[in-house]
Amino acid sequence: MENLSEDIRNILGLQLPSDPRWVNLAELQLEEILTDHAYCEQKAATTCITLIQRYSDKEKLVNELSPIVTEEWGHFRLVLAELHKRNLQLGKQRKDVYVNKLLEFQKKGGNPEERFLDHLLTMALIEARSCERFKRLSEGLDDKYMRNFYRKFMESEAGHYTLFINLAEHYMDKIIVRRRWAEWLKYEKELMKEMEVRGDRIH
Ligand SMILES: [Fe+2]
Ligand SMILES: [Fe+2]
Repeated sequence: MENLSEDIRNILGLQLPSDPRWVNLAELQLEEILTDHAYCEQKAATTCITLIQRYSDKEKLVNELSPIVTEEWGHFRLVLAELHKRNLQLGKQRKDVYVNKLLEFQKKGGNPEERFLDHLLTMALIEARSCERFKRLSEGLDDKYMRNFYRKFMESEAGHYTLFINLAEHYMDKIIVRRRWAEWLKYEKELMKEMEVRGDRIH
């Protein structure tokens, strides 16, 4: 990620920058990219609710994810307002290839602690990649208003990335978290390589 500041690059740890052509493609498909973005926010809110339901015995997680649900839903509403302001419509939700491929990498069965860790790291990764994508938009779009629009999302998702990693390190051994995180980053790099570059999708 040659265009990212040292800080953000270190924070995110992603191993492959987005294809530079992506921003130009996204720019041409504003209705589609905003629609896809809106559903990314909806899914973030929904997944946080699911995590709260599943891990209701973990007080720190419940306390910290509760306001994130509100924040992600606020993001959904901001994107929806932006669509309406432009007389554009919220389209249908698409199949999310990126997220589905990440879910395939999650450990199934076996140790509940490993599954818990993978739930948190999946979220951290989606936040990290979304942050990188929003950063690209905030730097590469022609429209100054839209650059600012995406900058705010970028900052917020960087904070969420940190929150999920911190939660993982709170509940589990840091060395185990780091080791598994490295595996996730490697998997995501390969996934990004094979993903088609499409301007109608955030991922
Ligand atoms: Fe968000
Ligand atoms: Fe987020």
